[in-house]
Amino acid sequence: MSSDETLTVVRNDFEDGTRLDITISGQSYPVFLLDKPAEILAEYLAARSPEGPGNIALICDENTADLFGLRYEADLIKNGFTVVALTVPAGETTKSWEVAGQLVSALSDAGIERADSIVALGGGMISDLSGFVAAVYERGVDLYLLPTTLLALVDAAIGGKVAVNRDEAKNLAGTFKHPHAIAADLNVLKSLSEIEYRSGLAELAKTAILSGEDFLVFLEEHTGELCARDPEVLREAVVRAMTFKAQIVAEDPYDKGLRVCLNYGHTIGHALEQASDFTIPHGLAVAEGMRFAARLAMQLYGASPEFVRRQDALLDALGLAPLDISDHNIAELRGAMQRDKKNGAGEIRFVLVREPGAVGTTSVDTDILLSHMRAWMGIKDYVPPEPEPEPEPEPKAEESSDQDEGRDDAPDAPAAEDDLS
Ligand SMILES: NC(=O)c1ccc[n+]([C@@H]2O[C@H](COP(=O)([O-])OP(=O)(O)OC[C@H]3O[C@@H](n4cnc5c(N)ncnc54)[C@H](O)[C@@H]3O)[C@@H](O)[C@H]2O)c1
Repeated sequence: MSSDETLTVVRNDFEDGTRLDITISGQSYPVFLLDKPAEILAEYLAARSPEGPGNIALICDENTADLFGLRYEADLIKNGFTVVALTVPAGETTKSWEVAGQLVSALSDAGIERADSIVALGGGMISDLSGFVAAVYERGVDLYLLPTTLLALVDAAIGGKVAVNRDEAKNLAGTFKHPHAIAADLNVLKSLSEIEYRSGLAELAKTAILSGEDFLVFLEEHTGELCARDPEVLREAVVRAMTFKAQIVAEDPYDKGLRVCLNYGHTIGHALEQASDFTIPHGLAVAEGMRFAARLAMQLYGASPEFVRRQDALLDALGLAPLDISDHNIAELRGAMQRDKKNGAGEIRFVLVREPGAVGTTSVDTDILLSHMRAWMGIKDYVPPEPEPEPEPEPKAEESSDQDEGRDDAPDAPAAEDDLS
């Protein structure tokens, strides 16, 4: 990763939490992982409003409204803000053009003006929807996030991508809108359903594998605490995940290259979600996609069987068991993969990992893909044959015999077309 001037994540730890200051494309904002997030946000917002506290539109879904809405609303009101609470139904179907339009009308009816702010209280659905509305309402009002799911914390909150779905595709209408601040209390994750929590753990595992040894070892050493939702361990894991994502986004703010690596596990993952009519949750589908991609990487990118076993073991320990996908239709899954936005005409691209932190993308030949899919759909725990070894070059008489120095596998490994590491 380059040491670009725009690339900054400054971390400050306190007894009761952590503050990160993230700079992306010259714009900085804080992330408060501390108790009483709404109070902290209100104080921060008040300090940014020299003309006095204005109006806040607090957008929740019905679950986050029930669980946290009134308490957080009270914290904002205590600091002098007038709060307009807007609650939408929970669930992905709410992230729609129609609901975005209804929210725009509701903001107008409530007298929200350009100098006012939108505060999104919820998971990734709420931050994507509220962010989209904040980007278009009166050509843009300030956005603040109070994330309440692990997935929103480690993924959706950072990076500025906001969108709504259309029938044709997920996230079809969207733009970039960074928040002015993010605040979260990790204790809120205790009320998440097991399935939603594990979805977030899958994105955490993905991020650690992309990030490299340091983060990966941290997760491997703390799988028990992570499964038990220990707030201290979660704080460290979330800080590392946010830092990694912010660094990638700072290098590729408009998703033109490097950022595609965050799609690891998503080529098969998205296809599985679609083929199951979204009954397979996103994170579980991504975890399965990571298992598939790792096996593909053994053949196409020089990943070792040890890496595949290590990734499997991490996913198992995080409660992300392999899925039984034998009922799915191979042609349907392949069709869904072909519609993936990473692809060029007629090709299917995968993000592959050779070893922790070594990432690339490649288009995958149809015969190779189908051979992996057949094995994957028929035989559980398959390991494809290792590629034929290249013929050994004749040893040169004068070559060094320094065999004990760490061997770098990279030059021998088949290269992915676009090496992103
Ligand atoms: N913008 C991005 O970069 C980005 C990245 C990843 C995902 N996303 C988007 O994020 C969305 C998925 O996010 P999600 O997984 O957070 O889903 P979500 O926001 O739909 O939340 C999942 C469920 O958990 C409930 N919930 C939220 N917080 C809770 C809490 N603390 N306790 C109990 N229940 C709670 C919600 O009401 C909902 O029913 C998708 O729309 C996806 O496209 C966006």
